[in-house]
Amino acid sequence: MLQLCDVHTYYGESHILQGVSMEVKQGGIVALLGRNGMGKTTAIHTIIGFQQPAAGSIIFKGQNIGGLPAHEIAQMGMALVPQGRRIFSSLTVRENLTIGGRKKSGPVQGYNLDKIYDLFPVLEHRTKHLGNQLSGGEQQMLAIGRCLMTNPDFLLLDEPFEGLAPAVILEISRKIEELKNSGLSLLLVEQNVRVACRLADYIYIMNKGKIIFGGNAAEPQIEKNIQQLIAL
Ligand SMILES: Nc1ncnc2c1ncn2[C@@H]1O[C@H](COP(=O)(O)OP(=O)(O)O)[C@@H](O)[C@H]1O
Ligand SMILES: [Mg+2]
Repeated sequence: MLQLCDVHTYYGESHILQGVSMEVKQGGIVALLGRNGMGKTTAIHTIIGFQQPAAGSIIFKGQNIGGLPAHEIAQMGMALVPQGRRIFSSLTVRENLTIGGRKKSGPVQGYNLDKIYDLFPVLEHRTKHLGNQLSGGEQQMLAIGRCLMTNPDFLLLDEPFEGLAPAVILEISRKIEELKNSGLSLLLVEQNVRVACRLADYIYIMNKGKIIFGGNAAEPQIEKNIQQLIAL
């Protein structure tokens, strides 16, 4: 579904992504791990078109999307739940969900307000609350719900569990599994190795703008091996 081949990205003179190659298969969950400042968000932003790759190819559904504007990539069915959630704090839950919905036909799961409320019942209870009145976990559910309203079939999640309590992480993990089972493909940036190994099918580790490891999440000892590699 998504393949990066030798992708390079710069901020001005800073060479951040230095030849990144990775793949997300249709219906799979891939986790991208790595410490702070290693280039994970830059990779996500390059995929979704916020940053232009200087070299390499990004193939999405058979088409090279490298260098396409973000809105065209979004039209092809890709959506991002950004790091830090970025919900509208002075709008209600309902307004947050309905503000940007894509009505176009496409690879559509048919998401609408009712389906989002089915997935996250707490959002229905909070429909008239403002974004800034929600807990961290509820804000994350809202950020995911808002993304789903665009009817994507490929979802990028940048550190969705940042700052959340273990019980909330588990709850949202289950929802992400449900999304996968409904046919979505997902690329998840994560710092928590245990959570990533539990949720993902395949794991990559990024270090200083390079992929230094790729492996099946079901491999024995994977969690321990990854912990060691990340610490390097
Ligand atoms: N807008 C920017 N301009 C210049 N440098 C940036 C910018 N955003 C991030 N960087 C730098 O790029 C590197 C990778 O950052 P980032 O992709 O955010 O890492 P991660 O998501 O893995 O924490 C860091 O050294 C960071 O300081
Ligand atoms: Mg980041």
